[in-house]
Amino acid sequence: MNSIAVTVTGRRQLTEHICEFTLTSSSGAKLPSFTAGAHITVQTPSGAMRRYSLVNNGNDPAVYKIALKREVNGRGGSMSMHDHALEGTELKIEAPENTFALTEAKEYLLIAGGIGVTPIYAMSQHLLREGKPFHVIYCTRSEAETAFLDEMKSTLGDKLTLHHDGGDPDRIYDFWDHFEDPKDMKIYCCGPQPLLEEIEAISGHWPEGRVIFEDFKPVEVVRADDKPFDVTLRKSSVTVHVPEDRSILEALRDSGIATVSSCESGTCGTCKTRLVSGEVDHRDMVLMDEEKDRYVMICVSRAKEGGLVLDL
Ligand code: FES
Repeated sequence: MNSIAVTVTGRRQLTEHICEFTLTSSSGAKLPSFTAGAHITVQTPSGAMRRYSLVNNGNDPAVYKIALKREVNGRGGSMSMHDHALEGTELKIEAPENTFALTEAKEYLLIAGGIGVTPIYAMSQHLLREGKPFHVIYCTRSEAETAFLDEMKSTLGDKLTLHHDGGDPDRIYDFWDHFEDPKDMKIYCCGPQPLLEEIEAISGHWPEGRVIFEDFKPVEVVRADDKPFDVTLRKSSVTVHVPEDRSILEALRDSGIATVSSCESGTCGTCKTRLVSGEVDHRDMVLMDEEKDRYVMICVSRAKEGGLVLDL
């Protein structure tokens, strides 16, 4: 994987808990271009790899901008960025990738929930520049917790519907009017799991490929009833203990064993590792059934019983 060294050259607090980071190439080399909806994988100061959507214009960019929320109950990546990626800090990133790209449509509806606004914000600015018809529905708890509020209001005007629910599930936005009759448009949604589930539930009658989701929320990597176990690395004859609250990947990293990873949420396929023996509790969304007795995604999956032997 090609990594790029960047330096944090700006930080802007968008809300109390959301900060926008400006990243500039450390060597002065040109940064690769990207399209709206793209993300970069950032190695946070804690060493964890996290995906963050790019929010600026990706056409020949002088810098990359990402915005992220300090998740106190997260797995530490965002806290590490907020607390330790100060101006002047050098970080390693991977070149932009886009798994949530806008494709040709007559019209677009963009739906964002909370920090899920980041790719939606970039898309709205792109569609605006292109002069394409679109509308944005942006749901947050309150005005104070709404990132990019001023810029979205001023650039989008009546193309923007803002909804604040105060965190009350009974006050969530009623999307039904937009979904009742399938229209000749594409809908892009990014936000927390309950929002995506709601949209999925009410869009089942839409033609395939018209409602597109982006979900960065990690699958549950560790669960309350998880047990510790050991993994033995066949090639290096090393055994590493995986505590109940760490993934195999994290336990390997804690022991100084570097392995490749990207999403760390069981969705990208980067950490696919050959399994020599052991019974796996597969928790990823990548492996096909016929691969499950030969491979394990070490960022999320665990041992069912006993330990595992990996071909590492
Ligand atoms: S790092 Fe992406 S699936 Fe494991």
